Amino acid sequence: MARRTTFDFVIAANRLPVDRVVGPDGEVEWHRSPGGLVTAMDSVMRGRDGAWVGWAGDTGDAPEPFDEAGMWLHPVPVSAEEVEQYYEGFSNDTLWPIYHDVIVPARFRRVWWQAYERVNRRFAEAIAEVAAKGAVVWVHDYQLQLVPAMVRELRPDVRIGWFDHIPFPPVELFAQLPWRQQLLTGLLGADYLGFQRQADAQNFVRACRQHLGASTKGETVTLPSDEGRPQRTVRASAVPISVDFEGLDALARTPEVQERAAEIRASLGSPKTLLLGVDRLDYTKGIRHRLKAYEELLADGRLSTPDVTFVQVATPSRERVEAYKQLRTEVETTVGRINGNHGAIGSPAVHYLHQSYPREEMAALFLAADVMLVTPLRDGMNLVAKEYVTCRHDNGGALVLSEFTGAWHELHQAFVCNPHDIEGLKQTILRAIGTEAKDKERLMRALRRRVADHDVRVWADRFLANLEAAPERPERRRDA
Ligand code: ADP
Ligand code: G6P
Repeated sequence: MARRTTFDFVIAANRLPVDRVVGPDGEVEWHRSPGGLVTAMDSVMRGRDGAWVGWAGDTGDAPEPFDEAGMWLHPVPVSAEEVEQYYEGFSNDTLWPIYHDVIVPARFRRVWWQAYERVNRRFAEAIAEVAAKGAVVWVHDYQLQLVPAMVRELRPDVRIGWFDHIPFPPVELFAQLPWRQQLLTGLLGADYLGFQRQADAQNFVRACRQHLGASTKGETVTLPSDEGRPQRTVRASAVPISVDFEGLDALARTPEVQERAAEIRASLGSPKTLLLGVDRLDYTKGIRHRLKAYEELLADGRLSTPDVTFVQVATPSRERVEAYKQLRTEVETTVGRINGNHGAIGSPAVHYLHQSYPREEMAALFLAADVMLVTPLRDGMNLVAKEYVTCRHDNGGALVLSEFTGAWHELHQAFVCNPHDIEGLKQTILRAIGTEAKDKERLMRALRRRVADHDVRVWADRFLANLEAAPERPERRRDA
């Protein structure tokens, strides 16, 4: 606890990189938090002398701030009711569906919005407490869209950036939100806004024009002077997120990971073709479409066990939200049916694992898999696609990638698919299996080059350079 109390570099995300889990006998354990945001920011923050403001994943009083691998973690308390209303409700049952093409219907509840505002304010106050004078504050993702303006109000001296890890919806979908103006105004408190794709940034700019009547030009939104505050310009542009290529590549080259990859293949009965899916158990990931395509390929006799097997790792996620409960039931029923119809003793057609694993095990799975199936219906980026490519230092394997991921906009040498087109998806899977090894190697080499040249460090540096170069605010010029 006894450490410097303010920092020149502060990030805020709904989750801290670790979750506090209290066992049945009151023992406290810290587990790594799920999701791509934590994977990326954990590697950006290591070695930087910065603070991370976030929720520790349980309810009630927040733990005292503490040091973790050179980061200062500053927990924000969230009550049980707020978990229900701010996190499960507004963040994941209102915003998440709207921002992902309304794959499931969004629910609008005014008490959820009130909790969202309240928790966002608490985050802003925590940031104001730990940020040193003139600090760089980097806010993350859809759970904290009101924070930029709230921080600006409390601390006009700091530089504020926000990055959207998920898609930003087309204006027609965004328009459904009863609180659309407040969300836009919240974001415009930032100096710079980063998005995964140019289309996301443009959707945001268009929403500002349409719903705030703001004047916009290219990547910028200009806010008129208001109540004595001078005119301000905010820039919104694309900076696609990535993975720690060097670290993950090195991990995948260790003898332990390589041996484990061989062991995984052997324990699956040394199939000719191992298909792999790795996702949070989320309806955006297209797991049902993937299973349907695989089931039909087995039924058509175009694939057969034990020559082929499929490992689906599905990390538990948002388990109390109704749409996630339904998805789990559907996925587990389908897996049961596929295994019932197409499996044999000792060789199930699908190995379904509803668990989280250490990084080493994930790297070994990637190295073991002949075909990686990344088939989201909508995904801001999809780091799994980039992790798979990174682990394939042997230039082996093949990546089937949905055109509805941010990753597709960079990884053009993947086997592209439209997951809604089941027939097309089946053809793509067969093509990924059947393409000659030397052609697949060429594709994989190109994919690896792309990720190596655009890794997470490049992403963070670009974001921070854009934040630094963002149109300067007149107040700052006067203070200088
Ligand atoms: P999202 O952020 O929507 O979950 P991404 O693909 O961008 O999707 O990021 C997921 C991250 O979680 C990746 O770093 C991936 O390796 C990790 N991950 C996914 N499933 C598991 C699992 N079962 N165990 C451990 N890590 C996992
Ligand atoms: C995605 C989101 C993150 C979120 C993660 C895991 O990556 O962009 O903000 O943390 O999913 O979801 P969870 O609800 O468990 O935090």
